[in-house]
Amino acid sequence: MSADLFSLRGKTILLTGGAGLYGRGLASMLADAGATLILAARDVAKLQAVAEQETAKGNQVFAESLDQGEEASVQALHDRVVSKHGPLDGLVNNAVLRPMKGANGGAAQFAESMRVNATGVMLMHHVFGKTMAGAGRGSIVNIGSIQGMIGPSYELYEGTAMGDMPPDYFFHKGGMANLTRFYAALYGPQGVRVNCLAPGGFFNHQPEPFLKRYCEHTMLGRMAHDTDLGGAVIFLLSDASRYITAVNLPVDGGYTAK
Ligand SMILES: NC(=O)c1ccc[n+]([C@@H]2O[C@H](COP(=O)([O-])OP(=O)(O)OC[C@H]3O[C@@H](n4cnc5c(N)ncnc54)[C@H](O)[C@@H]3O)[C@@H](O)[C@H]2O)c1
Repeated sequence: MSADLFSLRGKTILLTGGAGLYGRGLASMLADAGATLILAARDVAKLQAVAEQETAKGNQVFAESLDQGEEASVQALHDRVVSKHGPLDGLVNNAVLRPMKGANGGAAQFAESMRVNATGVMLMHHVFGKTMAGAGRGSIVNIGSIQGMIGPSYELYEGTAMGDMPPDYFFHKGGMANLTRFYAALYGPQGVRVNCLAPGGFFNHQPEPFLKRYCEHTMLGRMAHDTDLGGAVIFLLSDASRYITAVNLPVDGGYTAK
C-alpha cells in the first residue's frame, strides 16, 4: 500500500527534452516507475531512439515533436497527446535552450532564450495546466537550477576555459521558481500541483580544477549523475506528494546550503 503511493503506474506523463543529459535518465526512471511516458522535443528521431530502447525493456514510451518556442507547436502537441492518451496526469518541463554563450551574448540571443525558456515554459503551463485543471487533477514538475537560486561563483572556474556564464540562464531559472508559485496558486483549487526542482551541476567530464572546487563545495562531495534527479521527480509526480505544491526543492548534494 505505502509503496504504491510512489508508483506512476496508470499515470500518463509528458516529459520535454527526454534525450538530453538529465532528460535521458529521467525518461528511464519515470518509465521504470510505471508511467505511460510521452517524450517531446524538436529532434523526434533522437526521442524515437530513446522510446525504442525503453520499449525493449517493457516500458511504455512514445515520442512526439515539440518546439516549445512556438505557440502553435505547444497547442498541437497538447491536442495530439490528449486525443491519443486523454488528459495528462503529469508534465515535466525539462527542456532548455542555451542560445546565449556568455555575458556578452547580446539582445538577440537573450530574446531567443526567452522565447523558449520563458514564453515557452509559460505556454506549457497555460495550455497543459488548463486541461489538467479541467480534469481536476495533475502534477507539473519544473526542472529549474541552483543557478535560479544563487548568483555565479566565478572562483570555481579559475584556470579553466569555462566560467563565462550567460545572464539569460540565471534570469529564466530564477523566474521559473516564482512562475511555479503563480501556477500552483492558480490551479491549486482544481487539484493541480506545481513544483520546481533546483538540480546541481551534472558531471560531464569538466576540467579537473573546476571539478575539485565544485565537489568540495557540495556536502556530498560530488556532482550529479543521470539517476540523481529521478527520485525527486517521481515523488513530486506521485500521490506520495499529494499535499506538496509551490516548492522549489534543491537536488544539489547540499551545494546551495553551504
Ligand atoms: N546540465 C546541468 O548541469 C544542469 C544543472 C541544473 C539544471 N539543469 C536543468 O536540467 C534540464 C535539462 O538540462 P540538460 O543539461 O539535460 O539539457 P540538454 O541540453 O542536455 O537537453 C535539453 C533538451 O531540451 C530540448 N530543447 C531545447 N530547445 C527546445 C525547444 N525549443 N523545444 C523543445 N525542446 C527543446 C533539447 O532537444 C534537449 O533534449 C534543464 O532544464 C536544465 O536547465 C541542468
